[in-house]
Amino acid sequence: MPVPFDEAGHGETALEIDHPRLRPDVGLEVTIAAQGDDAITAGRERARLGPGWIDGDDLAIPEDEVGGRNRWPTGEGKKAQQGPGPDGPHLKSTHGRQWYVRPSQVEIGAVTMVGPDVFPPRPLARPHRYNPGPSLGSPTARPSLVSSLMNPFDLTIRHGTVVTAIDSFRADVGIRGGRVAAIEETLPPGIEDVDARDQLVLPGGVDSHCHIEQLSSFGIRCADDFHSATVSAAFGGTTTVIPFCAQHRGDALPVVLADYAERARTKAVIDYGFHLIVANPDERTLATDLPDAIGQGLRSFKIFMTYERTMLRDEQILDVLAVARRHGALVMVHAENHGMISWLAGRMTGSGRTAPRYHAICHTRGSEAEAINRVIALAELADCPILVVHVSTPEGIQLIREARGRGLKVFAETCPQYLFLTARDIDRPGVQGAAFCCSPPPRDEAAQEACWQGLKDGTLTVYSSDHAPYRMDAAGKLPNGEQTTFKEMANGVPGLELRLPLLFTYGVGAGRISLNEFVALGAAKHAQTYGCFPQKGTIAVGSDADIAIWDPLREVRITSELVHDNTGYTPYEGRTLHGWPVLVFSRGRRVVEDGKMLGQPGQGRFVARGLSEAMRPAGRHVSEIAQLEAWGRPLDG
Ligand code: URP
Ligand code: ZN
Ligand code: ZN
Repeated sequence: MPVPFDEAGHGETALEIDHPRLRPDVGLEVTIAAQGDDAITAGRERARLGPGWIDGDDLAIPEDEVGGRNRWPTGEGKKAQQGPGPDGPHLKSTHGRQWYVRPSQVEIGAVTMVGPDVFPPRPLARPHRYNPGPSLGSPTARPSLVSSLMNPFDLTIRHGTVVTAIDSFRADVGIRGGRVAAIEETLPPGIEDVDARDQLVLPGGVDSHCHIEQLSSFGIRCADDFHSATVSAAFGGTTTVIPFCAQHRGDALPVVLADYAERARTKAVIDYGFHLIVANPDERTLATDLPDAIGQGLRSFKIFMTYERTMLRDEQILDVLAVARRHGALVMVHAENHGMISWLAGRMTGSGRTAPRYHAICHTRGSEAEAINRVIALAELADCPILVVHVSTPEGIQLIREARGRGLKVFAETCPQYLFLTARDIDRPGVQGAAFCCSPPPRDEAAQEACWQGLKDGTLTVYSSDHAPYRMDAAGKLPNGEQTTFKEMANGVPGLELRLPLLFTYGVGAGRISLNEFVALGAAKHAQTYGCFPQKGTIAVGSDADIAIWDPLREVRITSELVHDNTGYTPYEGRTLHGWPVLVFSRGRRVVEDGKMLGQPGQGRFVARGLSEAMRPAGRHVSEIAQLEAWGRPLDG
């Protein structure tokens, strides 16, 4: 039912949102839909923090959103924090709000808590008395209770706190046929019921950067196959992985693709997509094989600016960008300057400096920054979106931030190793530091802080594991045993399983990010960016029932025995994490319960991905290309 407003629309009309949980110290997000032609043109937000009022920013709803929905973000600078912090329950919240708007009428949609304000979860009324319409402001359509009773859910997850990238609310989730069929305050019993009281019901994680059963740029096969890797992912609350089909020089793409598809088909216990690694952008690859692969739902390619076996020249990078632009795909870039690294490495090894710590010396910050700067320029020339993977430096993050500030579609990723490790971890006796060698290498505390900031302000779009698993033996990182030089060590660290628990502890638990941001960074943004949202990455009616139930208070001490991948070690050995996924569903089927794997090899399905907004070119030509277009000689012609 619409809320009436001052007919004349003069002046400001106060709409008080009297949410049952409204407290001065708790933030709310409210969706509002406008009725009428030019209903909401501007609004004014006021926020209450303690006694009195604080003026918020002026709000303006773009014309094309009038009649639709809009969401105003939590106001900045009005946050309150309480509680003991990383080692225990905490409460991070913002403020109660009133909106002053000037439309003829508006409808108030979902009013939801902002941030992890409940540890353990407390009830959150939804729908509430300000949500009169069935669909407004809610990701769910109302289910018919009659039909639910006649056709019960296969599974009902009851009494939990459902968290998506934008909402947190107390609700039951009904699952039928592997999909979410209903989300309501109370649902009738399903054929099976799960009690999620005091627990968090989260979308299963999506890990969009991991190497599984892959032939690496060093020519070494990863330690994990599609079974061990997906088992490990599931134990850590991840239910979709997007690893790589890796083309090497001389490889025909369709052959590579068929090989990886077959390996995954018979072994994966959770769903998976594929990116391509393009190392051989010959005419056939560019003209036929890449477009065909895109048509099959492989809508992202990784290219390398370093590594002898896989790196592309600038002209080749432009070729790949042009194909991605034309056919709708996202190009992921490993951005490090090859020459800078190999020049330094030659001098190090030439003078007998071969220990793992020299790996971190050779992969300088400047080599990352140079390559990021260059690939941004290439992407701008081609007018093609890119996503810079495993960004590790403040300098690199700043370049990406500036590019985005100029309107370029430059997305980026960081990984656990850049938030939770430093170069000191590599500096160990003998070759032990090899366990922490990845490219780019972990840096220092200031770089960690820059990565957190980048995640917080959206410069870094996704948080992925870059799981690159190699054992500490002759088949993996140490081909020459104790004599192995840092140049011979396979690059990469494992991280599929601990990616989310680490972020939960050091991100949510430490008050750095909200629960909603946790879901966004660990699941939703991956699915959105890579073209499988809302099938994956959220809990909404119609989404795949990929759900991880987290116990926010579960304490787990990390040991290599606990982790299920095949590397035999974890870089996070000995840490105690708070918050753990205790029950994990893949398309409604239990895959992890009570520390046991219930998923079967081969039950995971291939996820064909579609065009995402991230993949759409900005449509901005550099001036020379614009001139060329004006002369009627477009590059694509
Ligand atoms: O060191 C890393 N990251 N190894 C995996 C391959 C890659 O570059 O992503
Ligand atoms: Zn890489
Ligand atoms: Zn990688």
